Amino acid sequence: MLIIGNWKAYVENREEAKKIYGAAKRIAARTRGIKLVLAPPAPFLGLLAAGKRTKIAFAGQDISASVTGSATGEVVGSALFSAGASYVIIGHSERRARGESDTLIAEKVKRAVVHRLIPVLCIGEKERDEDARYLLEIRRQLDAVYTKLSSRERLEIVIAYEPVWAIGQRSQDAMHAEDLIEMMLYIRKVLGEYVPGKASQKTTILYGGSVDAENVRTLAKGSRVDGFLVGRASAEPETFSALVRALA
Ligand code: PGA
Repeated sequence: MLIIGNWKAYVENREEAKKIYGAAKRIAARTRGIKLVLAPPAPFLGLLAAGKRTKIAFAGQDISASVTGSATGEVVGSALFSAGASYVIIGHSERRARGESDTLIAEKVKRAVVHRLIPVLCIGEKERDEDARYLLEIRRQLDAVYTKLSSRERLEIVIAYEPVWAIGQRSQDAMHAEDLIEMMLYIRKVLGEYVPGKASQKTTILYGGSVDAENVRTLAKGSRVDGFLVGRASAEPETFSALVRALA
């Protein structure tokens, strides 16, 4: 099971960042079968990950699509890799809401692969409707990226399915496990069109959206997810440790 803690912009100082990292290291030392990845804001990524050889891996929260150095404010893949990241979150709904297009997201996935980072591609519908148009939205998001990738690049991707309506809500507002099963099957069916044979079944698919210590076991049980992308509950040492413990 893979758990990625997306700290977003919740963590604002280095002491807090170190505390969460410390808690994550302690819980990682005590649990088996769970891989922890932390996605701190960029300045703390370098601070925490530099030269460290621990069980915890690190992720960037975004990557620049730029291929030149004349890109003020952008963080390119080589810089993330050099700072200690091995994953990068791409196409998070909070970035899509700031104007990121499917085309840009596909470019970012390519940049990640070039720089040996595992792309965590976020997809998710804005709302659920009775006519199941949300399925078309998911298909559009997957098609837009997978059609642009080579067969090798397609094998590198981790998918994070995060229905936008479920992000940043209360525990009980997360997607229900039975609906999640349906979405897992659907995503794997679409992936089957792009990734040959058994490989599509092996793609890691995470769920994200108001996951916490209360609901994580129920969501994990029987829903066939391979892990979770956790926002708010990952940005605080106690809530993150409790969440990981709940799965162990
Ligand atoms: P949340 O965020 O756990 O706070 O809902 C998840 C995400 O946006 O990745």
